[in-house]
Amino acid sequence: MLRSIILAAARSSRLERLTATAPVSRNVVKRYVAGTDTNDALRTSRELVDSGLKVSLDYLGEDTLTTDQAESTRDEYLKLLSALKTEGLTPATEVSIKLSALGQRFDEELSLSLAEEICTAAADADTTVTVDMEDHTTTDITLDAVGKLRQRFSGTGAVLQSYLRRTEADCREFAVKNSRVRLCKGAYAEPESVAYQNRLEVDRSYVRCVNTLMSGEGYPMLATHDPRLVEIAIDRAKWYDRGPHSFEFQMLYGIRPDEQRRLAEAGYQVRVYVPFGDQWYGYLMRRLAERPANLRFFMQSLKSR
Ligand code: FDA
Repeated sequence: MLRSIILAAARSSRLERLTATAPVSRNVVKRYVAGTDTNDALRTSRELVDSGLKVSLDYLGEDTLTTDQAESTRDEYLKLLSALKTEGLTPATEVSIKLSALGQRFDEELSLSLAEEICTAAADADTTVTVDMEDHTTTDITLDAVGKLRQRFSGTGAVLQSYLRRTEADCREFAVKNSRVRLCKGAYAEPESVAYQNRLEVDRSYVRCVNTLMSGEGYPMLATHDPRLVEIAIDRAKWYDRGPHSFEFQMLYGIRPDEQRRLAEAGYQVRVYVPFGDQWYGYLMRRLAERPANLRFFMQSLKSR
């Protein structure tokens, strides 16, 4: 219930304006967001890569409403990829993009062509792009776009969400040679008709999807902080005779950093998803929805205004 309320608030532009300058919410933001600009992203990537982790950088923004905004998001990624190449941070650092930040909601063709430009720059920088998954109304068009991008840029990653009832079937389709698939639980408020509502069902679906991806021929990217699911993934790697370089774990910046280091030191590949930029509101609200204990600090920040 609380999760649904927070996720509904994630779509409120009024609350977004209210929180933008609140001092304590800034501290909550700092925990999950690397900073506001390319230099912050580069500095954080350097620290993580030097400590043996891989990185996926996300320039924050979603639900773009104009072509200018979408093109300016594209420009930020091009600037970022060029800097990553100059700094020698690729291929350990890749980028994650949201098609809604590239205009998917009002012009699908535009979002695909801007994504292609980003993939071209990523290929020039010797790295890859993963296309984040948003709410279920966009699953088909996003997977379709990933399929088109993969025709030219075979390393383009897809994201599948275990809370969706359809995802097991999608995993079967994506468990093929050369495909890169990030498996996560899913972060949006979804209706019962399309998504499991119960945590246990979401976790069980995650395990079934791990089985499919790990027994397939693609490259699974297991995005979870859930200790039980991490153990199950390690176990399945043994079952299916997969070496530590044939899959990776992914976790979010600021969440379970000790576990990220522990897994890397144990010889597993671990990629940290690092968001940066000033459009942090929707991202932060989804993180609060996952862990309502953080909400207390957030509400204090609003009261203090
Ligand atoms: P779960 O939420 O059950 O958490 C397990 C444990 O992790 C908790 O007990 C706690 O210890 C810790 N934890 C989890 N969230 C926390 C938080 N916010 N603060 C502090 N501790 C926390 N979703 C999506 O819909 N589309 C996408 O493209 C992506 N992309 C993505 C990339 C990567 C690299 C990750 C790790 C996750 C995503 N997600 C996502 C988000 C994902 O769907 C999911 O909402 C979160 O990862 C939380 O789910 P867990 O699997 O961690 O389990």
